[in-house]
Amino acid sequence: MAKDKAIRELEDLPGIGETTAEKLRSAGVDTLDKIAVYSPHDLSELSGISVDAAKKAIAAAQESTTVNYETGEQILEKRKAIGRITTGSKDLDEMLGGGVETNGITEAYGKFSSGKSQIAFQLSVNAQLPRDKGGLDGAVFFIDSEGTFRPERIAEIAKAEDLDPKTVLGNIVVVRAMTTEQQILTLERADKLIQEKNIKLIIVDSLTSLFRAEYLGRGALGERQQKLNSHIHRLQMLADKYNLAVYVTNQVMDNPGIMFGDPTTPIGGNVIAHAATTRLYMRKSKEEKRIVRLVDSPSQPEGECVIKITTNGVKD
Ligand code: GTP
Ligand code: MG
Repeated sequence: MAKDKAIRELEDLPGIGETTAEKLRSAGVDTLDKIAVYSPHDLSELSGISVDAAKKAIAAAQESTTVNYETGEQILEKRKAIGRITTGSKDLDEMLGGGVETNGITEAYGKFSSGKSQIAFQLSVNAQLPRDKGGLDGAVFFIDSEGTFRPERIAEIAKAEDLDPKTVLGNIVVVRAMTTEQQILTLERADKLIQEKNIKLIIVDSLTSLFRAEYLGRGALGERQQKLNSHIHRLQMLADKYNLAVYVTNQVMDNPGIMFGDPTTPIGGNVIAHAATTRLYMRKSKEEKRIVRLVDSPSQPEGECVIKITTNGVKD
């Protein structure tokens, strides 16, 4: 691979493989910054790699964590490249500041049937539209962890937009993940696919359900959060690197401890709360109506709007 491959995770360091990285993470050494301040001897002892190898890994970690200065103007230039995908609803687009943004993670959480997957299907179609029609002229990578991907439904939505359903479905690469291991690996290996297929939208529906099913009980919570954390950071890294949009769904759990207000909270706790750029809370209303609340956004005020899930897709 290219020698200037950016170092973003422990595995990217020379001499640090997956097993060693896991060992380090379970010992609490889970960031490059932490490696950067280790002594070669201690790191060698902790991880089992040689002192020489530890020296190299530490040097690479130190280099990678050098603070990157950028002027406000440079960041503004970068932000101009940010694209948006229309959701199909003008009100929801407006609330989001023009649609689902590239370069970040948009999370939708809510109970079953609240419309999270329907929005995923709609975005899978809309991402393929030309830029002047609210799309990104790109393909879609869909990680389905619940077995709820429905090509028939996508075909229906595509037809409603006057697109050829076959072409639209052909531009959606689907992976059915059965375990968290598969879900994580799928993303680890996504770089080539993203470049070859011009992927402009990654969907993970759902981000959390396999983690929740596999890591049961309090004892497993730490490990679950740690895995989820690195998984979601990987998503953010891909969003940055390829200027693509990421849309993930998340369930809620009943929180009987809350006596006032909404007694449901999204799964994943702080890990997802901090990593998701934009958070949407979806609730069922009458018939086709769904209430979407913007809970967190870096640039838009909190708000609420109503969308409809119709046979033709997401509408106002
Ligand atoms: P979970 O994955 O179970 O947590 O739910 P979700 O939030 O992903 O729900 P989803 O997006 O699958 O929404 C399902 C709802 O969408 C159904 O209950 C229907 O109300 C609606 N829906 C699905 N397909 C159609 C359709 O073809 N026409 C209309 N009008 N509504 C549909
Ligand atoms: Mg769903």
